[in-house]
Amino acid sequence: MSDLSRIGVAIDSDLLVQFDRFINSQGYENRSEAFRDLIRDRLVSAAVESPDAPVVGTITLIYNHHSRLLPDKLMELQHEHHDLIIATTHAHLDHETCLEVVVVKGKSNRVRALADLMISTKGVHHGRVVMSSPTTYHPKSE
Ligand code: NI
Repeated sequence: MSDLSRIGVAIDSDLLVQFDRFINSQGYENRSEAFRDLIRDRLVSAAVESPDAPVVGTITLIYNHHSRLLPDKLMELQHEHHDLIIATTHAHLDHETCLEVVVVKGKSNRVRALADLMISTKGVHHGRVVMSSPTTYHPKSE
């Protein structure tokens, strides 16, 4: 584990009450871990905004496979971007609805562009990209 630093933080009492309520609802046992997670989350969010940042993540799609040519189009997009895609998981939710999760790794701007292309494809009901930064937070000893 990396060296620990202790800091004192001045915080508005009302804000602290809200924070404590929030972290309790999330299952945190103490404020320190909650603060650390918030800081890491903010650092990762900032890091993945940089176009050249290396990211890992997922593109999740919900679509109707009866939509004309949609499955072919999504497959074609994945082959065109095979260098970004580690794996794809497909689940048939019911007779017509599919859930597809595409695991991606590459530069932030390319991953976002691929996600935009897939999500905006006609027939995709809902899509979301989640990106994390594999290099933003690593304790020194890891
Ligand atoms: Ni399916």
